[in-house]
Amino acid sequence: MALFRSSTRAIPEVEEIPRHIAIIMDGNGRWAKKRFLPRVAGHQRGLETVRSTVKSCVDLGVEYLTLFAFSSENWRRPAEEVSFLMQLFLRALEQEVAKLHKNNIRLQIIGDRTRFDTKLVDMIAEAESLTADNSALTLTVAANYGGRWDIMQAMRRMLETAPELAQTFSEEDLASHLSMPYAPEPDLFIRTGGEKRISNFLLWQLAYAELYFTDTLWPDFNNAALKRAIQSYQQRERRFGRTSEQLQQNA
Ligand code: IPE
Ligand code: IPE
Ligand code: MG
Repeated sequence: MALFRSSTRAIPEVEEIPRHIAIIMDGNGRWAKKRFLPRVAGHQRGLETVRSTVKSCVDLGVEYLTLFAFSSENWRRPAEEVSFLMQLFLRALEQEVAKLHKNNIRLQIIGDRTRFDTKLVDMIAEAESLTADNSALTLTVAANYGGRWDIMQAMRRMLETAPELAQTFSEEDLASHLSMPYAPEPDLFIRTGGEKRISNFLLWQLAYAELYFTDTLWPDFNNAALKRAIQSYQQRERRFGRTSEQLQQNA
């Protein structure tokens, strides 16, 4: 059931409230450092922001929320921090999945699972199947995710399924094998923590996303901050390659 609609092949419907928000949750370490706390205290607080952001998105009617929790490059961090993050992920699944389910939220995890231990892999599979039919919001957590990995695994799976596509294939052929075939492309991309880069997040899917960068550190990113990001999005003219005049004629 690939719902993938390519922004480069057909012009997407633009809604007041972004249907899909993708966030790089950055700045946990600096938040902690400012308070003379260990970096991991920032990750702990960051989890609270995840909870409040999920709630705000449900309340606002956002359909898809995608959160970058751990990148394929984050393994380069000190071993203790990596191990803390994996533990936090496991505990978050243990503690939150029942609540997500009760709130009718579908949980999906994207990323390379081959480096996770079996307990984590099993919990992910259980959480996904438990929440599969929920419809209030689709929450996707990107863990050990990299945009390049995603494109490469899509290519590999496409050619495994249909070797004849090696000759010629369409965007849709490839995109239906990317990690989020169930979601439209993100309308709004948010990065907290002040850096202005994509850091190997959704490289393919962000083709026409509106980009919003804020200096607010992730643990401080509250409902008002999310609303400011959406207000900024509402000021944008999404042309998808057309001219402003063409948009006004169609309005
Ligand atoms: C983002 O916060 C969380 C992860 C990458 C896991 P950081 O840990 O990158 O925080 P800063 O950028 O060092 O402040
Ligand atoms: C991006 O943040 C990854 C996540 C938020 C999970 P980083 O803090 O790892 O990004 P860089 O290293 O500053 O680009
Ligand atoms: Mg960072």
